[in-house]
Amino acid sequence: MKKSLTTLLVFITLFTARADEGMWLPLLLGKQVYADMVKHGLKLTSEQLYSVNKSSIKDAIVIFGGGCTGEIVSNEGLIFTNHHCGYAAITDASTIEHNYLKDGFWAYDKSQEIPAKGLSVQFLLRIEDVTAKFDSVLNGLSGTERSQKQAALIAGINAQYSDPSKNIEARVSPLFKNNQFLVFIYQRYTDIRLVGAPPESVGKFGGDTDNWEWPRHTGDFSVFRIYASKDGSPSDYTAGNIPLKPKYFLPVSIKGFKDGDFAMIFGYPGSTNRYETSYGIRLATDINNPSLVGLRDIRLKAMFTQMKNDPAVKLQLASSYAGIANYWKFYDGETKQLLKYHIYEQKQQDEQKFMQWAKGSPEFENIFSEWPKAYDAWRPYAKQRVYLFEGILGSPLAKFAGTLMKLENDMLKQGADAAVVKKDIEAATEARKKFLADENRVSDQQILAATCEMFYNDIDKNQHPIGFYEGIKSSSGDLKDPATYKKWSTAVFSNTMIFSDAKWEAFARSPDAVALQNDPAFAYSSAFIKSYLNKYEPLYQQFVSKNDELGRLYLKGIMQMYPGKKMYPDATFTMRTSYGNVKSYSPRDAVKYEYLSTMKGVMEKYIPGDYEFDLPEKLVELVKKRDFGQYIDKRVNDLVVCFITNNDITGGNSGSPVIDGNGNLIGLAFDGNYEALSHKLAFDKDLNRTICVDVRYVLWCIDKLGGAANIIKELKLVKQ
Ligand code: ARG
Repeated sequence: MKKSLTTLLVFITLFTARADEGMWLPLLLGKQVYADMVKHGLKLTSEQLYSVNKSSIKDAIVIFGGGCTGEIVSNEGLIFTNHHCGYAAITDASTIEHNYLKDGFWAYDKSQEIPAKGLSVQFLLRIEDVTAKFDSVLNGLSGTERSQKQAALIAGINAQYSDPSKNIEARVSPLFKNNQFLVFIYQRYTDIRLVGAPPESVGKFGGDTDNWEWPRHTGDFSVFRIYASKDGSPSDYTAGNIPLKPKYFLPVSIKGFKDGDFAMIFGYPGSTNRYETSYGIRLATDINNPSLVGLRDIRLKAMFTQMKNDPAVKLQLASSYAGIANYWKFYDGETKQLLKYHIYEQKQQDEQKFMQWAKGSPEFENIFSEWPKAYDAWRPYAKQRVYLFEGILGSPLAKFAGTLMKLENDMLKQGADAAVVKKDIEAATEARKKFLADENRVSDQQILAATCEMFYNDIDKNQHPIGFYEGIKSSSGDLKDPATYKKWSTAVFSNTMIFSDAKWEAFARSPDAVALQNDPAFAYSSAFIKSYLNKYEPLYQQFVSKNDELGRLYLKGIMQMYPGKKMYPDATFTMRTSYGNVKSYSPRDAVKYEYLSTMKGVMEKYIPGDYEFDLPEKLVELVKKRDFGQYIDKRVNDLVVCFITNNDITGGNSGSPVIDGNGNLIGLAFDGNYEALSHKLAFDKDLNRTICVDVRYVLWCIDKLGGAANIIKELKLVKQ
């Protein structure tokens, strides 16, 4: 009874978007969706959301760094984003003496702001539909011919719409699985400075234990500023740059809200695959996800042991560790939820229904007889691919050594070009410096041994690189004995030229392919990469292109099957808006989750000295005095810390503004909930929630904990 009911519900949500489901293109909202937003509580016109000519909310939203969202909150280019989005910039700015990760950082005037090297933000200038250009070229084509022509067309359009002299970058995004093509035109600003961040014990309170879970009590925010040249155009850092005057910025509301209030989110969701097939679900739950989780588990344990013991190593590894851990827990949870909610069976039913509909249509009727063949052909090699990328190359040394393959290639070319080799050597020498700065040898040596051993034990023998393990056997012993791999790994670490300045410099002076090939780190990494590239990458490409082809047809068919249905495209790290409501939920029978969490809960979780649940002393004192100032929520008579909404977001949305019906900022989205971790592949309308930090907690941390009233003064506060 229960199963068929949930099946039916998921089926409906898959094909007819509901209020909370959907990552809509702000350009193409359409009357139907806009009207539904109004019905849900939106008080703004669609022009106020997205306008080509006038300033609108979209102008306050930026791509922050490579994979997050940020929003402009002042007339002087101030940005709010998540702490975990600013994490790398915060650790980069930190030293043991000035440990901003641990202690937090606040600029009390602009001169104290810290340039974040390598960080940039991008504004979306406009979007254009270029589908017609693709249709005219691609019509009737299939397979590699189609994908090659498509790629060439994308490159051409990107170049045509870009203007490097103004840092204007255009990127075509194929939507609805290559059935629609929009070009997004961005402008990139490269002088970004760190303005403030809470101590990690606030910004990452609860750590990986609480990650992806509600109830949550994390102050996941950080503050940056965009600088530009005097005329407002993008410029790399120079002392003379001035704060950017933005086209638009979001007012900040400290009025509070209640369960059921309207909430919308603008941002950059990275990827979803809501029309994944049953075969894809199986591949994920059987092979891809468990392999990734098992390999990351080993790597994380090795890193954590070192980080816990040494604050310098902690600073060095923290950012990379956080990234690995985040999706380690995600994919573990995704598998559990996919199985628990029988997503495989649900997708099968969707496919049955499609096949019924497609009967007799030459374009669509064979999709689901071809698809399983493509999966059957790839499946035997899938695990090995994950073991290469998440295992073998999960060792930073092996990964860096693998990048030297270009150098090897250029050295081995007929009539090798000395100038090219020299360039390669210079680039490799630079890259080696960066690698060494981030390298923790103790953990990496363990990772190298463990992942090499796991590959041996878990991967079909005839997919091993030929001769490689025989070599370990003769140098280091029995391949069934873990000690063998430790011995071998120790030897790799002591003998590779990558760790020896003298050896590296000698090699750089007279580069020689044989010397490189004899380097044990290079020999290891390149053996696996070459074996993969020669034998398995071609099969993988065949699989991907077949999968793309069938996916495009499937979606085209679905759109014909449900004519007139308002559909949204899968996330492609392009700007989307999602609307819904602040909303409590029931994670399981007899349990109800409140829509907000408070300072009371922070204190309940507090464990002095703990790695994840410690708190700054000053915070504890302020709470004792109940010094919540204007940020207190009068209804709950406490500081609201986090809240949840039923908005549809995913990774990439981190840092996104949560906006009320009047266009005011009420929070920052920073996570999804555990019960809906299958959201990339199947949206669950009952369980899906977005976890947000309340902007009043953000301001309280800045003002009371950080004492940075200067930042508060810049904001446009909405008090009633
Ligand atoms: N799960 C969050 C996201 O993907 C990241 C949260 C970072 N915090 C952490 N404890 N790792 O956006």
